[in-house]
Formats: sequence, C-alpha cells, structure tokens
Amino acid sequence: MAHAPRPADLNPQSAIRSQTMPTIDLGEYRCHVEIQGDGPVLLLVHGFPLDHTMWRPQFEELQQSVRLIAPDLRGFGRDDRPLPDTLTMQDFADDLAELLDALQVVSPVTFCGLSMGGYIGWQFWKRHRERVARLILCDTRATADSVEAARGRQMMANRVLQEGNAFVPAAMLDKLFSSATQQRDPQLIATTRDTILGTRPDAIAAAQRGMAERIDFQTDLPSINVPTLLLCGQDDVITPSAEMRVMAGSIPGSEFVEIPAAGHLPPLENPVATNRAIADFLR
Ligand code: MLT
Repeated sequence: MAHAPRPADLNPQSAIRSQTMPTIDLGEYRCHVEIQGDGPVLLLVHGFPLDHTMWRPQFEELQQSVRLIAPDLRGFGRDDRPLPDTLTMQDFADDLAELLDALQVVSPVTFCGLSMGGYIGWQFWKRHRERVARLILCDTRATADSVEAARGRQMMANRVLQEGNAFVPAAMLDKLFSSATQQRDPQLIATTRDTILGTRPDAIAAAQRGMAERIDFQTDLPSINVPTLLLCGQDDVITPSAEMRVMAGSIPGSEFVEIPAAGHLPPLENPVATNRAIADFLR
C-alpha cells in the first residue's frame, strides 16, 4: 500500500545537505537512512540479518564521487514499527522506491544490493525499472529457494520468534565470513555479531519467510539492459562465485569481478578491492 511520505524528525532535503542520518517516516516503516557525498546516487541495500552499517567502508571511500544512500530495510536497524508476518522482496523493493520519492531522487540510480539486497534488486528491476541506471549485485543468486532451503528458513523464523535471536550469530557468522577473515579480524566479527543481536526477531522471521517465497529470476536475467556489475567473494560459501559467474553469462554485457580474501561480505572483508571494483565500474 502506498503512503504519502510524511515529515519525520528531519526534512529529507535538509538531511541530505547536512549529511546526517535522517529518519524518514514512510507510514508502516520508519526508515533510518545514511546519506553522504555528492553526485549520482548509489543506493546501497544491505544483506540479512544486517543493517546499513555493513557499507561503512564504502562511505569512507566513495563519497567523493557519488551520493551514497544506505537505508536500514523495513524492520532492520532502528525501525520500530509493527511488521507483517512476511516481508517479501517485492515489499522491500517498493519501500525503496518510496524512500527515493521521499528523498526527491528523480534521476535513475545505481542500485547496489548484497545477497538479500540482490534478491530485492531483482524485484526493484522488475517493478521500478525506470529508476535503475546501473546494477551492482554482490554475493547473491537469481534462483528461488529449494524446498529444503525454504524449510530451513521457516524453522529459523519459528525458532527466533520462540526464543529470540541469541542463537542466530552462531548459525550465521561462520558462513558470512571466510575463515581467513575470522582469524585476521576478530573485531569485525564481534561488530557483526552485535549487529545481528540488535536485529529484531520479528524482522528476522519476516525476512526469512519472504526469502523462502521469493520468485526465481533466472529467466528474467537477459532482460537486464543497463550496465551491470556482479561481485563475489572468492571464498563465499553461501552464494559461491562459480554460480555468480554463470549468472553473469545470462546478463548481456555484464562484468564479473571476484574479490580475493573475502567470503560472503566483500564490502567489509576486502573493502579496498570492493571499492576499486565499484569505482572502476562507475567511472
Ligand atoms: C544475506 O546475506 O542476505 C543472506 O545470506 C541471504 C540468504 O539467506 O539467502
């Protein structure tokens, strides 16, 4: 359901200028969004079960050339509004279009999504194509869940609602980061653990249910006719780089870059290589 954007604690335009983190009231969703830099918009869409802070290293590096807009998705970060049982990838995509409206971003943007952010990217492309100038897909896939994967998500959704999210970091951190990153950067692992523990159980459940019912996008890949970059960590065990390479073959003219020394979260694990790949693509 569309909601007219309402003024929240900051006017979006003045928030852009003052480069603070505004809160934008989108009705069902109170969106915290970090905005920095000047130039064409790079919309950064986080993975599950994280928030906008996973893009910290991109903010430090890329704000000279682009305006970075990194929202917390509905239910994530500091959003405190009631949630439906299921948040579909379509819901998130429509939220992002509404956010751009509220921020008065009219020119097409570069949409950059990681993993769940990529699943949302497919739906943003399908539903809001006119808003997309370029696509960057990081560590994601175009297939729908297998029956087994969907069942696993339902189990996590039920468990997190029953007992809270304390078990979630142990279930995910080993898969999110390469073993080399886990040894090299315990502080990064600790910070990410805190982010996961700060995520609402009902948001974890709703997003898991939404991912479980997401639509296969493989046959739509050839419809993408904007410049597209696919990035993947060399040691990603969740969305392996071999799978992304095949996906790149189905997107006309797309580029594929494998990021060394990284698992599922190259923007955090190897920001130098990730930022270089993004900057080269945008240049
Ligand atoms: C993510 O990083 O967003 C998740 O790994 C996505 C998923 O669970 O499929």
